[in-house]
Amino acid sequence: MKNRLAIFASGNGSNAENIIRYFLESDTVEVVLVLSNSPKAKVLERARSLNISVATFSKEDFYMSEAILKRLLKEKIDWIILAGFLLKFPEPILQHYKNKVINIHPALLPKFGGKGMYGMHIHKAVVENKESETGITIHYVNENYDEGKIIFQAKTEVLGTDTPEIIAEKIHILEQHHFPKVIENLIINNKNIPSFGGGQGEE
Ligand code: GAR
Repeated sequence: MKNRLAIFASGNGSNAENIIRYFLESDTVEVVLVLSNSPKAKVLERARSLNISVATFSKEDFYMSEAILKRLLKEKIDWIILAGFLLKFPEPILQHYKNKVINIHPALLPKFGGKGMYGMHIHKAVVENKESETGITIHYVNENYDEGKIIFQAKTEVLGTDTPEIIAEKIHILEQHHFPKVIENLIINNKNIPSFGGGQGEE
């Protein structure tokens, strides 16, 4: 029986698509469902074009009803991946999926984490703070934004001339390279030892 993944995403979905493609031929992992709080999110188009089932939901349903949890259980989902998902994850689902909800954050947590810290907001803050490096963090999700145990980080250099857009591109490259492999290692080998990579990382 393959490990069954659900991906939650709010927007573009480049990470979701990369993860779906990575596991298309896998014998051990399959992406079963993509869920979004935004019916217009590009991630839904990307998932449909790869023949993955999609579901959308309102913020109210997400927090006030058990419909999403029931759907996840009905689909026998084993792992939940947050890939650019911007809502706080509800506790009833976290309790059911203890240490099975994984998020990617486009900064080196604990720096640049918390409510309101997502996407370009982070890269702008990195430039304003004159950081010499930034990176990605893959971590377990708990009840607080961006505070769950860190599974993996990879770094990249920030040059004095870098704009937020250039940093976004560097982060995108790191995410595309590492996220599916870290998920795979976590699921298959149960490896969850924190690791730092100098722009390459070590899965
Ligand atoms: C990614 O960079 C992800 O790390 C970030 O949103 C982007 C989504 O891109 N997530 C957060 O900022 C969460 N706090 P994508 O939709 O193209 O995958």
